[in-house]
Amino acid sequence: MRIDVLTTFPEMFEPAPPGVLGVSIPKRAIEAGLLSVCATDIRAFTQNKHAKTDDRPFGGGPGMVMTCQPVFDAVTHVEALDPTPPTRILLTPQGRLLDQPTVEDLAARPRLLLIAGHYEGIDERVIERLDPMELSVGDYVLSGGELAALTLIDAITRLLPGALGHDDSAGQDSFSPDPQTGRRILDCPHYTRPRVWEGMEVPEVLLSGDHGAIEQWRAEQRLARTRERRPDLLGLDEG
Ligand code: ADE
Repeated sequence: MRIDVLTTFPEMFEPAPPGVLGVSIPKRAIEAGLLSVCATDIRAFTQNKHAKTDDRPFGGGPGMVMTCQPVFDAVTHVEALDPTPPTRILLTPQGRLLDQPTVEDLAARPRLLLIAGHYEGIDERVIERLDPMELSVGDYVLSGGELAALTLIDAITRLLPGALGHDDSAGQDSFSPDPQTGRRILDCPHYTRPRVWEGMEVPEVLLSGDHGAIEQWRAEQRLARTRERRPDLLGLDEG
């Protein structure tokens, strides 16, 4: 998969440690050729002599607005770098909330173009013209779309075939569909050595070697946790 990112902070996407893409699963996926991430500086496309990518908002008010021309020219340039047309995505707090089904959908696409806005936002006319999918990573405001873009890249990467080691499985994660019920619920608690830590014991069933009993315990824990912490995932939060 190829992911292009348009940003005024391309250094945030450097695939060298300690950057997000230079460690752990994204690092392995990039090295294995499962994913390439190419960040392009929107500032390189400005036509004004001060290399400005933003201006004051019409109508007044605080903050700055990213101008149409550099964003549009950057998109045109980057899209022509590869014959596969990308799915355009704008990271914005005004977008639809990102969820695991959306991550699964995007992970199956061959090419994405992520647009990370900064300042108060991007001039609405270029958004209208580019018609991107608009996604938010949560109901809070970040300084820019870059961390949201990295969040999306990370979530997608772990779903790319071969990205996780043999011992890992995205299928067991929170929000992945339960093979029996198809429900997307939370994961169960996990334990490792020592058997007793600070007087706290590991649940007995996990030491029993009885795989049926362990599976049943885990399924019960997933359901109990979800009911307690995220009843909305079970449709139990109405009224
Ligand atoms: N840019 C600023 N805040 C954001 C958010 N919550 N999601 C996506 N992009 C953003």
